[in-house]
Amino acid sequence: MGLVSLGAQTIPVGLDIGTDQVRIAQVKPAGAGYVLSAYSKVGMPLGAVVEGEIFDQTAVTHAIKDAWRLGGFKGKDVAIGVSNQKVVVRLIDLPYMERAELQGAIQYQAQDYIPIPVEDAILDFQIIGDYMTPADEHMMEVLLVAASRDMIDNAVSAVEAAGLRLVRIDVTSFALVRALFGAVDSVLPSHEEAPGEAVGVIHISSGVTNIAVVEKGVPRFTRVSSIAGNQFTQAISNVLNLTFDEAEELKFRAGLPDIEGGDPISGDHSVQVAQDTLEREVNKFIAEVRRSLDYYLTQATQVRSISKIYVTGSGSQLHHLNEYLSKGLQAEVAVADPMHFLQVPSALQSVVMADRMGIAPAVGLAMGGAS
Ligand SMILES: Nc1ncnc2c1ncn2[C@@H]1O[C@H](COP(=O)(O)OP(=O)(O)OP(=O)(O)O)[C@@H](O)[C@H]1O
Ligand SMILES: [Mg+2]
Repeated sequence: MGLVSLGAQTIPVGLDIGTDQVRIAQVKPAGAGYVLSAYSKVGMPLGAVVEGEIFDQTAVTHAIKDAWRLGGFKGKDVAIGVSNQKVVVRLIDLPYMERAELQGAIQYQAQDYIPIPVEDAILDFQIIGDYMTPADEHMMEVLLVAASRDMIDNAVSAVEAAGLRLVRIDVTSFALVRALFGAVDSVLPSHEEAPGEAVGVIHISSGVTNIAVVEKGVPRFTRVSSIAGNQFTQAISNVLNLTFDEAEELKFRAGLPDIEGGDPISGDHSVQVAQDTLEREVNKFIAEVRRSLDYYLTQATQVRSISKIYVTGSGSQLHHLNEYLSKGLQAEVAVADPMHFLQVPSALQSVVMADRMGIAPAVGLAMGGAS
């Protein structure tokens, strides 16, 4: 699915515009997967992107240009992801109709499901299945995506000002799911999960966290939370009256307190305060994820629980975080592997390995363009 799809002349490059980093990935199909042909990453100045939205277009354009120069990418076509409070994704049930008919009808149907006025939104949808009701009505399940036109226009301008051609806009969490589970079309394939099972995916980065629920490789629910790495750092900075950079360094060093109490208690007072602060923030975070998953479960007809959660994102590298998630969400937590479908040539190994927690959205965006 792409919110915007124009005819691409080359395989579009995946461009992930983040709060801390711009990441660009280019892939080529290879066998059952892909090979990474180029990758680069450059830092984004503080405040240019806030909670997934572009605030300083000039700064973002600069960062994109720098990253582009660094990577040696082919062509000019790019695919970007959007993930912020101005994109909503809803799973809806509609009477069955052909794709072409739905294309026309969605404009009229959408308003009932989305908080953005339809006239200010760009809409997209993906049919994910159809079924018969007990009363013998033919129904279909549709994943409806609505994104605010202003927010999209901002992103388009930032990319075009960098001399690139935006050919595809994706929902970041769909790209993420694609990187982790492979490219799945609307027809449900057989997959490792048993019927009626769903897995969670949580990608914690800096300004936002993407939460998704995946059934048979297809995302059926997604939500963006603004509790992410930045908020953890900001909380430490507030409590200890540190600069953002000092708090960031302390966050890396302190991590969460060991849930089992196995770590020696730090003699450093600021480490202890940072750990307590992080524990409070992470508990808020877990409550937010829990609410999202519970919401999904109340809607799902066949799925009763989510017993496995894949975690990625640079912000998920907080010491002991996975133990807290596992306990708080009552689920097995696994570190997701963004390289599952990706061969990485030796020249790119070191840069990719160093960023393996942060790379998934860019890879998934690139895969979406290549499939
Ligand atoms: N070792 C670590 N421990 C804890 N947090 C870490 C660690 N390494 C990186 N982080 C956090 O990861 C976050 C950066 O993640 P990432 O680079 O994925 O963000 P981004 O993609 O630029 O932002 P976003 O997608 O949210 O706009 C920062 O909050 C940073 O503090
Ligand atoms: Mg990111």
